[in-house]
Amino acid sequence: MQVDLTQAAAIIKRGDVVAIPTETVYGLAADANNEDALKQVYAIKQRPTSNPLIVHIANSEQVLDWASEFSPLAQQLAKAFWPGPLTMVLPAKSEVLDIVRAGEPTVALRVPSHPVAQQLLQILGMGLAAPSANKYTQLSPTTAAHVLSGLGDHVPILDGGACCVGIESTIIYVAGNQWRVLRLGMITAAEIEMVVGFGPELSNQSLPKAPGQHVLHYSPKTPIQLFTSKNALWDYAKTHPDCSMLLIDDEVISLPNKTFYLPNNPATVAERLYDTLHQMDALGTEAILIELPPKTIEWFAIHDRLSRAAYKLN
Ligand code: TXA
Ligand code: MG
Repeated sequence: MQVDLTQAAAIIKRGDVVAIPTETVYGLAADANNEDALKQVYAIKQRPTSNPLIVHIANSEQVLDWASEFSPLAQQLAKAFWPGPLTMVLPAKSEVLDIVRAGEPTVALRVPSHPVAQQLLQILGMGLAAPSANKYTQLSPTTAAHVLSGLGDHVPILDGGACCVGIESTIIYVAGNQWRVLRLGMITAAEIEMVVGFGPELSNQSLPKAPGQHVLHYSPKTPIQLFTSKNALWDYAKTHPDCSMLLIDDEVISLPNKTFYLPNNPATVAERLYDTLHQMDALGTEAILIELPPKTIEWFAIHDRLSRAAYKLN
């Protein structure tokens, strides 16, 4: 069910949930101070409540409504990357509901840049808890149509077009004057390092657990096979004709049947990856074969999502 901005704001105010666009992926949004609304989010997603939610806020001025500390390092990062696809995990104020942070002493905060998300946050003046608007472990939605097919018609959707970043935000843990990436995204560790002037120094032991970093994640229903060379992919395809294929390349002259192509550019691949996988999944083939992009830093987040999508339990 499609709703407009005013209706979306009213639904959230009365304590229900709405799927909203952000620049990364669509989120399933609810008032981050309303426990019953947040229970609906977990129920619709079929997500365990041990996995906390990101609170979306309109601007950095609202950080201290949620976090007990906004260190100079966190402020510097906010200045450089907000609004945008960076989520910061900061020490939480004691008032932040347990259901938002899954009982952790931290809260994840993000200022989205999508104009529709921004307008909604400004109208409401509250924090919106929003996980990606998909069922637990499934592919994230980057269009209103993906949300509809993944969650069904009973979830109201505020359509803001296709998401331009296309994969989930980079999540970093900021503890005082140190930082560390918890989830890769299109803002790379190298870009963060350029801004702050030093690298990630926190040891594994000092990290909070990032419960959502389940290896099986972002998965279409069709099994995925990854290949490091096109030749290996073609060889496999010869003996497995009922497969669809995704090539990431500079140029492809002609595309065989059931073959998809994305240009050799990380930002474009990120933007179109989930939509392409949604389309390939809908073909219902035996498997989806994907040629991996190069293993360089600007491709790390894509590698992360592809390897999780391809992960098999045995
Ligand atoms: O781009 C995004 O981040 C999208 C859009 C909607 O903003 N949201 C998103 O939410 O991807 P979700 O819930 O699908 O993934 C958020 C991840 C989860 O893996 C969760 O475990 C982690 O963030 N997370 C949330 N709060 C945390 C916290 N306090 N400490 C550690 N990890 C946290
Ligand atoms: Mg998610």
